[in-house]
Amino acid sequence: MTEETERRNFYGRTHGKTLRASQKQYLAEDLGRISLSGVTRADNPARTPLDLAKLTGGRPLWLEVGFGGGEHLVHMAARYPGVFIIGCEPFVNGVAMLLGKVRQAGLDNLVIHPGDVRDLFDVLPDSCVEKCFLNYPDPWPKARHHRRRFVTPGYLSALARVMQPGAEFRVATDIPDYVRQTLEEVPPAGFDLIRQAGEGGAWEDWLSTRYEQKALREGRAPNYLTFRRQR
Ligand SMILES: C[S@@+](CC[C@H](N)C(=O)[O-])C[C@H]1O[C@@H](n2cnc3c(N)ncnc32)[C@H](O)[C@@H]1O
Repeated sequence: MTEETERRNFYGRTHGKTLRASQKQYLAEDLGRISLSGVTRADNPARTPLDLAKLTGGRPLWLEVGFGGGEHLVHMAARYPGVFIIGCEPFVNGVAMLLGKVRQAGLDNLVIHPGDVRDLFDVLPDSCVEKCFLNYPDPWPKARHHRRRFVTPGYLSALARVMQPGAEFRVATDIPDYVRQTLEEVPPAGFDLIRQAGEGGAWEDWLSTRYEQKALREGRAPNYLTFRRQR
């Protein structure tokens, strides 16, 4: 966990069950190479914006917030080699799972920030992200915890700043109250709703995630919301 993450009251989990030997090996051997530098406060105390041209080589930049085990992130990077994707995930077990998948797929168009997306928002320039994915964000079901959700003004204003005019923001969730809050909070942050679909209505290039599979097994229906950053 980064110093910045602690300072910001990160409420999620950063560690889970014991890592397998192979996962420890991926973390030891691959994490440094795939991690974006200049994101944490320790690494970039002046919070200097990242040099994206150097990072992406001029490719469009996409962002996945909370990639979990990384299946959707790896799928998108493989499907769109002309795009460069940054994934954020503070849960080390998820990061280790992603690293195994990246090894297998041999991708060179993705990097990660193994921490809180807010640290990344700090150092992204204005209007640089062309697409953002928020798949099955932590639901925080209790009413007094709703303000911890990603779809709250603090996260959304930072997201709006870094997204290009016309950029797409996709949200997938199985929680009806999360849909409600998303529809309430995202438009005032500077986005228009352009599509809302239920089960069977996923995006054409969607890859179902671990949390979606869990939701389906437990009888909860997916919702797929698409917003466009206002011009
Ligand atoms: C319910 S899981 C979903 C994981 C994956 N997207 C999926 O669909 O299987 C939500 C993930 O968001 C991550 N997360 C929560 N807060 C975050 C933050 N501030 N920055 C980045 N990731 C975050 C959590 O660690 C967790 O892995």
